[in-house]
Amino acid sequence: MLDLGAGEGRQVLAAVRKGAKVFAVDKQAVLPIAATDPAVTWIQTTIEDYDIPKGAFDLIVMKNVIHFLKREFVQHSLASSIVQGLRAHGTLYISTFGQNDIVFQKSLQGYYTDEELQDIFHPIVFEDSVQEIVQDDHPPYGSHEHLLMKYIGRKA
Ligand SMILES: C[S@@+](CC[C@H](N)C(=O)[O-])C[C@H]1O[C@@H](n2cnc3c(N)ncnc32)[C@H](O)[C@@H]1O
Repeated sequence: MLDLGAGEGRQVLAAVRKGAKVFAVDKQAVLPIAATDPAVTWIQTTIEDYDIPKGAFDLIVMKNVIHFLKREFVQHSLASSIVQGLRAHGTLYISTFGQNDIVFQKSLQGYYTDEELQDIFHPIVFEDSVQEIVQDDHPPYGSHEHLLMKYIGRKA
């Protein structure tokens, strides 16, 4: 599995517990919760600078990170690298903010419609998308809800 923008590595840890070998990429020197696990290779770099190995992964995860990336980079570089990085029948998981999320009243940089994501990541086919309302509380918004969209796509 490859986790792009892994943060502390919560899903990395979950995958390792199920027996996966994981590459975890994040630009920050976060203290990973699975820091010493030999099944995890931590790579501190930007997603923009990381050269995704071809045909290497059964699962690529981008959980709450695509909206931080420039649209042009996602569209013209990252999407094809992800398609090539997945093995045949591999899975791509993306979660990101939905159209009515409070963050996107400020910035629309990272917002994608279902159709745009499908076009950008073609030939990966998104089979499922699920919406979830998540409670949050931090400046400058105070108490608020996020609308999260979750996508699961498969490479043919
Ligand atoms: C909201 S956190 C999500 C972390 C993790 N995926 C999770 O769901 O727990 C976003 C993460 O993406 C990382 N990030 C944002 N832009 C990045 C970039 N261009 N390259 C690498 N990591 C990036 C941040 O450092 C942060 O750890």
